[in-house]
Amino acid sequence: MTAAPSYEVRAVDGIPEVRPGDDLAKLITAAAPDLRDGDVLLVTSKIVSKAEGRIVRADSREAAIDAETVRVVARRGPLRIVENRQGLVMAAAGVDASNTAPGTVLLLPEDPDASAAAIRTGVRDTLSVDVGVVVTDTFGRPWRNGLTDVAIGSAGVRVLDDLRGAADAHGNPLSATVVATADELAAAGDLVKGKAAGLPVAVVRGLAHVLGEGASARDLVRAPADDMFRLGTSEAVREAVTQRRTVRAFTAEPVDPGAVRRAVAAAVTAPAPHHTTPWRFVLLESEASRVRLLDAMRDAWIADLRSDGKSEESIAMRVRRGDVLRAAPYLVVPCLVTDGAHHYGHARRDAAEREMFVVAMGAGVQNLLVALAGERLGSAWVSSTMFCRDVVREVLDLPSDWDPMGTVAVGHPAAAPPERPGRSPEDFVEVR
Ligand SMILES: Cc1cc2nc3c(=O)[nH]c(=O)nc-3n(C[C@H](O)[C@H](O)[C@H](O)COP(=O)(O)O)c2cc1C
Repeated sequence: MTAAPSYEVRAVDGIPEVRPGDDLAKLITAAAPDLRDGDVLLVTSKIVSKAEGRIVRADSREAAIDAETVRVVARRGPLRIVENRQGLVMAAAGVDASNTAPGTVLLLPEDPDASAAAIRTGVRDTLSVDVGVVVTDTFGRPWRNGLTDVAIGSAGVRVLDDLRGAADAHGNPLSATVVATADELAAAGDLVKGKAAGLPVAVVRGLAHVLGEGASARDLVRAPADDMFRLGTSEAVREAVTQRRTVRAFTAEPVDPGAVRRAVAAAVTAPAPHHTTPWRFVLLESEASRVRLLDAMRDAWIADLRSDGKSEESIAMRVRRGDVLRAAPYLVVPCLVTDGAHHYGHARRDAAEREMFVVAMGAGVQNLLVALAGERLGSAWVSSTMFCRDVVREVLDLPSDWDPMGTVAVGHPAAAPPERPGRSPEDFVEVR
């Protein structure tokens, strides 16, 4: 009978306070001369940073965090979760003011994989043994309380164990199972290193199968395209607003009608006067309905241009332009219904009442567009139906009190929109 799998993890005693320029492999092999082939060394990044002289004078920790940050993921008061220059998403960019002299801060190793490789080579040169090395740091995690050690650098370790294609004990396929082996090793080491015990290195023995070439701790970082949680909640809300852009060219990919309905559900949460719900959305889901509307609107436009006295040539040119709607795979006609409006029998007040409903319609359509952007759908809100409302009502068979308020073209964007020009809030405000 074969023994059930097991491993041993122990802290390495006797590593002195590390100073810039120290050779970590020498310090580790002196303290653990009994290292064997197949052992895995778990090395706290703090001593790697110290050995590599990653101690910098910093007037403020905040300035040091700024310098190490490439992207703010979430901010809550003074706490910042950021992506740092090593590509790691973590609190305060990994800048530590706690384990170092006042007026200085400790930065993460510049290249933790290279640090791990140097330790591995040094151990091999000194003891003639092949070990795996994981450089660890302590992370908080979204959704779960408590901190745990994870791998930020590695050498000679299969950091991910891809079990996809294998089967569980019941024969069910493991379709999504990729085990973060290097993080599990880091966490195992933390159980014996502790945080304050002065034991910055641990050894795992008995798991020689986790050793292997070719992997990097960077493999543990999700690629942006696969990251469903790239921003904190507040940041994602703000970005949803700024990511809405007018998209005028779409791919042929069809639009999910469910996504449009989710966007309509968001649209009808807009503010509106007198607790009314003045928004209606006509969804043109068949090509026949879209073509019928667009043909009728084109004819109405041509009639308008003729009555303006435009030449047939200039009319043809105008009509050829601006075919955003015809190229879109999906159209929405937002309509305003003002049956909840008050009637004053007074021109100024009745005009203000109408405007209240029109601005509420704008808020509803903006909600729709923002929600569509959240569904990764592009949109263009164009005015056309507002200029031929009777024609639109007739073609779409709408009640006489539904006012078409433009048309929204919806689809998957053919290209990323151009950069938005920067606008300063100061240009748009007056403070009293
Ligand atoms: C009521 C309204 C009518 C619009 N009509 C048109 C239009 O007829 N054609 C068009 O290409 N864009 C139209 N737009 C879109 C604007 O041109 C667009 O919002 C502007 O260029 C700013 O770009 P952005 O939305 O990407 O920030 C309209 C926007 C609104 C709010």
